[in-house]
Amino acid sequence: MSSDTVEFASQRVLITGAARGIGLAVAQDLAALGARLVIADLDGNGADAAAAAIRAAGGDAVGHRCDVSSDAEVASLAAAVQAQYGGIDLLVNNAVAHPLAPGRVDAIDLDRWTRALDINVLGYVRMLRAFVPGMIERGRGHVVITSSSLAILPNKATAQMLPYITSKGALLGLAYGLSYDLPPRGVGVTLFCPGLTSTREDGGTKIADLGFLDGVPKSVTQPATTKYAAGVLIAGLRSGSFLVCSQPGYAESIRAFAAQHLDPRGDFQ
Ligand SMILES: NC(=O)c1ccc[n+]([C@@H]2O[C@H](COP(=O)([O-])OP(=O)(O)OC[C@H]3O[C@@H](n4cnc5c(N)ncnc54)[C@H](O)[C@@H]3O)[C@@H](O)[C@H]2O)c1
Repeated sequence: MSSDTVEFASQRVLITGAARGIGLAVAQDLAALGARLVIADLDGNGADAAAAAIRAAGGDAVGHRCDVSSDAEVASLAAAVQAQYGGIDLLVNNAVAHPLAPGRVDAIDLDRWTRALDINVLGYVRMLRAFVPGMIERGRGHVVITSSSLAILPNKATAQMLPYITSKGALLGLAYGLSYDLPPRGVGVTLFCPGLTSTREDGGTKIADLGFLDGVPKSVTQPATTKYAAGVLIAGLRSGSFLVCSQPGYAESIRAFAAQHLDPRGDFQ
């Protein structure tokens, strides 16, 4: 796997938080392209079930329970992966703490902030520290940092998701820094910003149910499927794009947002 374009046959791919949702769809699609999948999730039974379903469909996958907020569990995952695969070619950081915080800034206790940052930011850092040194040593590999369209194109739903959006903004900074650090050492970096995506069978989203999208422009409130989001990521990996975003019209919206000096109160999407 080069830092420019990525092909997947026989590649060793580790995805965190892939027992369900977007991570699961990415795992299924990459397995169908011939990749060997490691599905790591806090939900160990879900990770095992996802891997078993991929194997039943003819793919190659194993499941591991791993809480990315635990140094010990990430170390144990790294040891198991090293023993079985000898390293990882593509690391997709995707796991996320439940995004909804109980209300506005004056009503969120510090534990919620700590938890969001420990999983969503330091969880990614733990995984990078565990798997990127091997990539650097081999001079090849690729990492995906999953942020959110809300981090590059905010809307008023973010007022109800403050620890989440703070963590997703931090991941922009992480991806920017890595994009200077890693490619000269043979490791590519992709910043993945999914747009609103339904991870439910009924096609709905919790943030819509809770009314967080009331007053948000209709252009960004129609949820995509996980299959669509996964397809956008895989196409972006293939093309070597740094930013991969599955929100329709995102490039034009970014230009409009920039023209408004990144003032979120403006009209840009
Ligand atoms: N769904 C959306 O609308 C949307 C929009 C923008 C960005 N995203 C991002 O895409 C990624 C996937 O989102 P999703 O909606 O599919 O999530 P999801 O909630 O459906 O799944 C998240 C997975 O992460 C796992 N997880 C939670 N805590 C963990 C931990 N400590 N260690 C390991 N695994 C853990 C969960 O068990 C679950 O399987 C996330 O990074 C999310 O922020 C999603």
